Amino acid sequence: MTSASRAPLYLGLISGTSADGIDAALVRFERRPELVAARTFAYPPALRERVLGFARSAVEVALDDFGRLDVEIGRCFADAATELLRRSGVGADDVAAIGSHGQTICHRPDGPSPFTLQVGDPNVIAERTGITTVADFRRADVAAGGQGAPLLPALHAAVFADAVDTRAILNLGGIANLTLLAPGEPVLGFDTGPANCLLDAWAVRHLGTARDDGGAWARSGRASEALVADWLTEPYFSAAPPKSTGREAFNLDWLLARVPAGAAPEDVQASLLVLSARSVARDLRAHAAAAREVYACGGGVHNAALMDALRREMPGVRVDTTAALGIDPDFVEAVGFAWLARARLEGMPGNLPSVTGARGPRVLGGVFAGRR
Ligand SMILES: Nc1ncnc2c1ncn2[C@@H]1O[C@H](COP(=O)(O)OP(=O)(O)O)[C@@H](O)[C@H]1O
Ligand SMILES: [Mg+2]
Repeated sequence: MTSASRAPLYLGLISGTSADGIDAALVRFERRPELVAARTFAYPPALRERVLGFARSAVEVALDDFGRLDVEIGRCFADAATELLRRSGVGADDVAAIGSHGQTICHRPDGPSPFTLQVGDPNVIAERTGITTVADFRRADVAAGGQGAPLLPALHAAVFADAVDTRAILNLGGIANLTLLAPGEPVLGFDTGPANCLLDAWAVRHLGTARDDGGAWARSGRASEALVADWLTEPYFSAAPPKSTGREAFNLDWLLARVPAGAAPEDVQASLLVLSARSVARDLRAHAAAAREVYACGGGVHNAALMDALRREMPGVRVDTTAALGIDPDFVEAVGFAWLARARLEGMPGNLPSVTGARGPRVLGGVFAGRR
């Protein structure tokens, strides 16, 4: 390999709000990001349960549990990095840095003492891998008055923007994030609301499976327009950006308080699908009416019923995935944290104030030295 003559490698790691596993991407940044290797590593089921337990609303947490979770998630992230390198035959010395988002367990960017909290101790990652690790990407933006989220619009703008056409990038994770790329205008980006998190929660409750595979169960039900309209009265959906949300707001408790007694579970699932798609469509119309192309990424691209619902809710708009723009939709976020690690080491800002609402551009993340 001629690694010496080529751009260095960066390794991005993230587990999103779904807590379905750690996405790991080894990336070389030439003119465009080149995905050298990528893989998702599932959490051990008991660890995933602990993560989800932390995220449940109004939970009281013992400091001991918090400290242990931080370290154990850090070990999992380190092992994911090590395993990805082993499988791809790349040595730790060839990796300039790891960019680790960690696992969000609480995101409260509004109020008098705003904060956002990710676990997965980067000291552990740097120690176990030997690779310099950049982490804690969100808090500099929150400290500067921003939402600390979403952070991916900067990557989307750098990699996916078109010179002529307005494009939208739609990340369908637990939460849906929309990035609006209109030529000559500031980038907009915000969370529209739930993408998969409520669909998952309802599937766990009624199917006993982690998700509604392909949206087949949702397809077996009939959406209730009345129910969707009622759910859309939730103030978050009408709030102006910048805005971001998470499991603290949209979770099973939220749903249970808003499902009428006697509603058929599959009809609720069908309605949730419409809720996810319509909240995206409403925001696209409100903030980028000129957009005729939406490129989706994140696990939700595998929910064919959700993709169909998006197409129904946005007539006249091409709804495709980022594969059409050259990046595997399952790893756009992980590529993003590799990209942010590089930005940090080069001293470049990583946030977009037009997106997060921060007072200005900020260099994001802390650097935790590796063993070299
Ligand atoms: N085959 C599938 N059918 C339906 N949903 C899927 C499928 N594959 C992935 N998903 C959804 O994608 C989500 C994970 O996407 P991901 O982008 O990793 O989200 P996050 O960033 O929140 O972890 C899962 O919660 C699941 O609901
Ligand atoms: Mg995930």
